Amino acid sequence: MIPLFFLVTLCLGVVSAIPMPNPSLDAEWHEWKTRHGKTYSMHEEGQKRAVWEDNRKVIELHNEDYAKGVHDFSMEMNAFGDLTNTEFRELMTGFQSMGSEEMDVFQEPLLGDVPKFVDWRNHGYVTPVKNQGQCGACWAFSAVGSLEGQMFRKTGRLVPLSEQNLVDCSWSYGNSGCDGGLMEYAFQYVKDNRGLDARATYAYEARNGPCRYDPKNSAANVTGFVRIPVSEAALMNAVATVGPVSVGIDSHHYSFRFYSGGMYYEPRCSSSDLDHAVLVVGYGEESDGKKYWLVKNSWGTGWGMNGYIKMARDRNNNCGIVTHAVYPTV
Ligand SMILES: *[C@@H]1O[C@H](CO)[C@@H](O)[C@H](O)[C@H]1NC(C)=O
Repeated sequence: MIPLFFLVTLCLGVVSAIPMPNPSLDAEWHEWKTRHGKTYSMHEEGQKRAVWEDNRKVIELHNEDYAKGVHDFSMEMNAFGDLTNTEFRELMTGFQSMGSEEMDVFQEPLLGDVPKFVDWRNHGYVTPVKNQGQCGACWAFSAVGSLEGQMFRKTGRLVPLSEQNLVDCSWSYGNSGCDGGLMEYAFQYVKDNRGLDARATYAYEARNGPCRYDPKNSAANVTGFVRIPVSEAALMNAVATVGPVSVGIDSHHYSFRFYSGGMYYEPRCSSSDLDHAVLVVGYGEESDGKKYWLVKNSWGTGWGMNGYIKMARDRNNNCGIVTHAVYPTV
């Protein structure tokens, strides 16, 4: 049996006492607001500034340690700098981790060696990085990512698929639009619906809307889905032989939100408390022998390494990368 997990919905924190801003950061604050198009009411400004200063401090301390060789990855201020961790979780993740009763389990092929390096971006399987906006539809982006890859594998055509179609139309399968969902429910919807529209004809809106699926614009079908056994060797095998795989992860930590490059490893990560869904598009190994999963996120190209992150591989399922891994069959 697959263990059951539930998304914990947290309430927005109430900020009581707002500390005075540090005047030496005034110019940097204004520059950051301009760069990310942020405008606040008088009422919001003080609270947002305080959160931004706290986040800035976390990043600064981490990077001081990084410079000393304590960490293998760096962090940077980005568009998420004015959100508390709780707010960020509400807005930007949205993975409801729970098992489905009926599913196929990946049967590992009896191969000799799988390649040491795999990057499906180099073989046409992966669409450009997208941005979920302030909507917890990570599950839809993750599901669409593995479906785009499997459709390419079958047809030789890479067609960006519509996350909005999933956000709007798969509620009766257990998904909750911008409040979270699960890739398996999305695949089941596409299977029963006998189609999923292309992104070009059903654009992403980052909010819940009425279902506007149009079979004329369908660009994908699903026949089922396959869960990967919880083992890094099995995931490696699946990625090497099948293509990009959807995974759930624990993304709760500041280190993930402000990741900017290098090998991500978070000792505080949970392997079972998953809150975000992403796409494993490959794996590899650095010259120093450190192994990684190559992961596509849905937070735009301004985050991480042009929208990607290298997450630690074979380090005891760090951040739960193999806990909930699935791909569709087409
Ligand atoms: C999906 O399956 C239906 C029914 O078999 C078929 O008519 C349609 O062409 C398929 N669509 C795609 C995009 O492959």
